[in-house]
Amino acid sequence: MDKYVTGDVIRRLREAKKMTQEELAAKLFVSGKAVSKWETGKGYPDISLIEPLAAALDISVIELLSGDTVTNRNRSANMTKAAFYVCPVCGNVILASGEAVVSCCGIILPALEAEPAEEEHAIRMEKVEDEYYVTLDHPMTKDHYISFLAALSDQGIQLIKLYPEGSAEGRFKISRVKRLYACCNRHGLYYQPCGPRQRK
Ligand SMILES: [Fe+2]
Repeated sequence: MDKYVTGDVIRRLREAKKMTQEELAAKLFVSGKAVSKWETGKGYPDISLIEPLAAALDISVIELLSGDTVTNRNRSANMTKAAFYVCPVCGNVILASGEAVVSCCGIILPALEAEPAEEEHAIRMEKVEDEYYVTLDHPMTKDHYISFLAALSDQGIQLIKLYPEGSAEGRFKISRVKRLYACCNRHGLYYQPCGPRQRK
């Protein structure tokens, strides 16, 4: 993890749970004084206490270490709120149907913010039978390439992983696709609306 838990975070989460230092201490089999020390920055909880501490505060270890809790308001699971996370270390692509705390290779990943596709990352689409044939006129070198293509509908996401030296193209089932995405390893995530009005 890029940072260890801080006293402020423990205090904030404990107070949000309306627990006293003593009550939290009792759950962890430590003294109230120990909790007080953590919260005032005079000590750290032993690493072996991280899991029980997260459980006592009713959050995940990742949320505890990131110092933030996530409340996903996207309860209807509408895929238009889908979020993409890309690990800059290993290239892993992670999809979530809403807000989440996501970590990979020890890093907490921010959700990528998609921008409308501009000229350099224009997403071209052609209807071929029951598929969209999607291409980009973009470099595919080791240093600069399109790392994935995605097609979003209200039911789900189709994802195609691309690799350097390959081609910047993919095929998606047309079924209710509303948006196409292309992710450049250097410039970020781009989208283009797609649907009956955009179809050729
Ligand atoms: Fe690019």
